[in-house]
Amino acid sequence: MSIGIHDLDVATAHYVLDLDEMARALGVDPAKYEKGLGQDEFSVPAPDEDIVTMAAEAASRVLSRNDPSKIRSVLFATETGIDQSKAAGVFVHGLLGLPNTVRTVEFKQACYSGTAALQAAVNQVARYPEDQVLVIASDVARYAVDSGGEPTQGAGAVAMLITANPNLVVIEPGSGVYTSDVNDFWRPNDSSTPFVEGKLSLDAYMDANVGAWDDLAAQRGLAVTDIDRFMHHQPFTKMARKAHARLAEHTGVALGDDLIEDSMAYNRRIGNSYTASLYFGLAAQLHAEGDLAGKRLGLFSYGSGSVAEFFTAVVQDGYSDHIHPENVAASLDRRVPLTFEQYRELHAGYIGESDNVETPVVTKAPFRFTGIVDRVRQYEARG
Ligand code: CAA
Repeated sequence: MSIGIHDLDVATAHYVLDLDEMARALGVDPAKYEKGLGQDEFSVPAPDEDIVTMAAEAASRVLSRNDPSKIRSVLFATETGIDQSKAAGVFVHGLLGLPNTVRTVEFKQACYSGTAALQAAVNQVARYPEDQVLVIASDVARYAVDSGGEPTQGAGAVAMLITANPNLVVIEPGSGVYTSDVNDFWRPNDSSTPFVEGKLSLDAYMDANVGAWDDLAAQRGLAVTDIDRFMHHQPFTKMARKAHARLAEHTGVALGDDLIEDSMAYNRRIGNSYTASLYFGLAAQLHAEGDLAGKRLGLFSYGSGSVAEFFTAVVQDGYSDHIHPENVAASLDRRVPLTFEQYRELHAGYIGESDNVETPVVTKAPFRFTGIVDRVRQYEARG
């Protein structure tokens, strides 16, 4: 039986900051962001948006094309969780009106956990072939102002429906995995922004890339020449180029940048979306021009700390009848541009675990974070 991603859709935030605007304000050469980091802009949430509202929007698009009564699990991956106890997916379950007969849980291991959720979903369907599993990866990447990571912020969610005999891609059995205890990026419970050892994080990412690749090659006897397109996790898109070059050097095979180029189109504009980033890369690859039916994709997932996985997916015949690039274009194009000053004001106004807050009505998205009452987060579905 083949199992994989049957449907996929995305959402991002209300605002966008152009990195040329940030470069101007900070007196940085714009080429550093555009070429040095490979980023053009990033999404910024309005006060009445968060990981739950983006996740619910992406998931509602998927559910509108499928039968929600078949869903048996909601697996929510994030590294910017909104509660230490309750899974963000439970709020999404409520907003979407899913049946009670659903298992809902949150996955965490930095940017990697979307892939852990995806593989858990595949395993569930392998055991219960009638089950459908909704996997959602949603994050707001928010770094301290004036830190190295500030131009690599972003926000977005990807929702995927995992089923038997999927329309889009089959996830092939056998992954390469890699865990190494390293403090390259972490966020203590009392901090709203991460701590980052920038240079170490680049090296840790690339070590994990070749380490996971070697395991994949050993498990399955695969060569890099068996892969038709690569998608590497994209904290900023230049990172994927660095990893790709390192993999080429490691394997001794010339791997052209043409094998990763298409996968970067969305992340250049969304910024880092942590757990969702690899799956925005997959969406961009599936939405790119050209027929990918029958092609094998190599996906590299990395989560600081660090855990990584290299796995493969085969694109299904007729997949192009089941993709929705127009939804991504609409989400990106409807964002409202910010000045640098407006962006910094929003950054400073971040709503943490404050008592009683009523958020202003800003977003026009179908779900809103309306505030916090007696320390309970409140949401509304606009119908
Ligand atoms: N024109 C063109 N390029 C320029 C330039 C100019 N005028 N000025 C600088 N550059 C280039 C630099 O040469 C460099 O490219 P190379 O690495 O290819 O040489 C690039 O722009 C970045 O320049 P710096 O290294 O000087 O940038 P920085 O010190 O400001 O920080 C960073 C870069 C460490 C990645 C920082 O953005 C950061 O800390 N980001 C967050 C951490 C991160 O994303 N790490 C990635 C691995 S961890 C992970 O993947 C998990 C995750 O999602 C966070």
